[in-house]
Amino acid sequence: MTPVINIHDIAQHVGQTVTLRGWVYNKTGKGKLHFVQLRDGSGIVQCVAFQKDMSEADFEAVKSLTQESSLTIIGTVRAEERAPGIPGGYEVGINQVVVHQVSGEYPISPKEHGVDFLMDNRHLWLRSRRQWAILRIRATIIHALRTWLDEHGFLLVDTPIITPAAGEETTELFEIDYFGEKAYLAQTGQLYNEANMMAFGKVYCFGPVFRAEKSKTRRHLIEFWMLEPEAAFMTLEELMDMEEQLITYVVQQVLAKHQPELEVLERDLSKLHAIQAPFVRVSYDEAVRIVQEHEATLPEGEEKEQLKVTWGDDFGSPHETYLAEKFERPVFVYHYPSAIKAFYMQPVEGRAEVCRSVDLLAPEGYGEVIGGSERIFDLDLINARIQEIGIAPEAYEWYLQLRQYGSVPHAGFGLGLERTVAWICGLKHIRETIPYARMLNRKYP
Ligand code: 4AD
Ligand code: MG
Repeated sequence: MTPVINIHDIAQHVGQTVTLRGWVYNKTGKGKLHFVQLRDGSGIVQCVAFQKDMSEADFEAVKSLTQESSLTIIGTVRAEERAPGIPGGYEVGINQVVVHQVSGEYPISPKEHGVDFLMDNRHLWLRSRRQWAILRIRATIIHALRTWLDEHGFLLVDTPIITPAAGEETTELFEIDYFGEKAYLAQTGQLYNEANMMAFGKVYCFGPVFRAEKSKTRRHLIEFWMLEPEAAFMTLEELMDMEEQLITYVVQQVLAKHQPELEVLERDLSKLHAIQAPFVRVSYDEAVRIVQEHEATLPEGEEKEQLKVTWGDDFGSPHETYLAEKFERPVFVYHYPSAIKAFYMQPVEGRAEVCRSVDLLAPEGYGEVIGGSERIFDLDLINARIQEIGIAPEAYEWYLQLRQYGSVPHAGFGLGLERTVAWICGLKHIRETIPYARMLNRKYP
């Protein structure tokens, strides 16, 4: 028996006879010489079938292979500079094959396909190089986020998906029937995170969240994953320091581990190397001024129209894009108007119309990737805010008790995983950052 190896580790096996198992990514050749690009999920390697090195039956079997046929190959690994693959530069001379299945005609060929077709065939599209690269980077981003938090004293404490009340926006709730009562899918783990924070000091949750948002943009999903740290006694400034460190660590990890994947994606690496602390920090007031000043210099037209903003407005994608592009690095915008932010955000001392909130805007048009704030920790104030927005206080009884029993100043944030993946991978649309995207017009497959 020869050792079964992963293509990813092929460099360690030059000169050895090994077993590889996987699928045909592509096949070319004629006559006595055929080339099989074999993928096994960890990489792609060129395997060469030369008639004189194999039994006749095995050579015929190679000839019969179609795209995505599954097979086991026993062969000899050699270094071959010109050989394509991931990692490139290696080749396997085939000695034996076992074909598990000759695939029927595969719907996704190397030719161009429309996005709708590809999304309909997402369960198959995942096998292509680009999707492979994205989802491997996604896994590393998740790992890096969690590693950083674990190493900085944050405890993973899970929060529920089925909840009795809104956590964020009442308009985006997915309602479900909970044995005859109304319940909702979580939009955030934050409120539970706050209770957990009071028990463990520094916590985070990481899970899927659901928003019935009727937005059909390249940055919105209906179901997405959010990483939410929450820490007792943390200030807004400390929150920004933490976000900066966390993001730079994640980017460094991706750069260290995924050069081949970033190459597949043709990612401009200089943009990733430029993600260095310190990020820019501007107040909402300043940010509005900066956008207005720029808008004033523009000639009449669509761009000018889109950039119009008055104090009190929420920023849209054009504003966010302009701000982060101007500074060519991630930008923190802090102290947003309270009226456009969530009910739990702590007002700024002596200026209650703005709150201790901060959004992190990514460059290259990716916009808000993180939203966070200091939380209101005074019982009367949080009570008043809950009344103001007109949500049923009964469901929040437990949340209010957190302000009764040893309340402390605290802060936290939510990082949108898919927006972060889109940014780091340099993708135009968020739909490719999650294995099975849920969007306004899509829930299949
Ligand atoms: O700013 P958001 O709504 O913040 C919260 O939910 C807070 N409770 C988080 C907290 O402080 N613990 O969402 C946080 C992030 C956004 O910055 C964005 O990256 C992402 O979640 N996000 C979405 N990503 C994809 N599709 C959507 N529809 C998203 N909505 C928000
Ligand atoms: Mg937000």
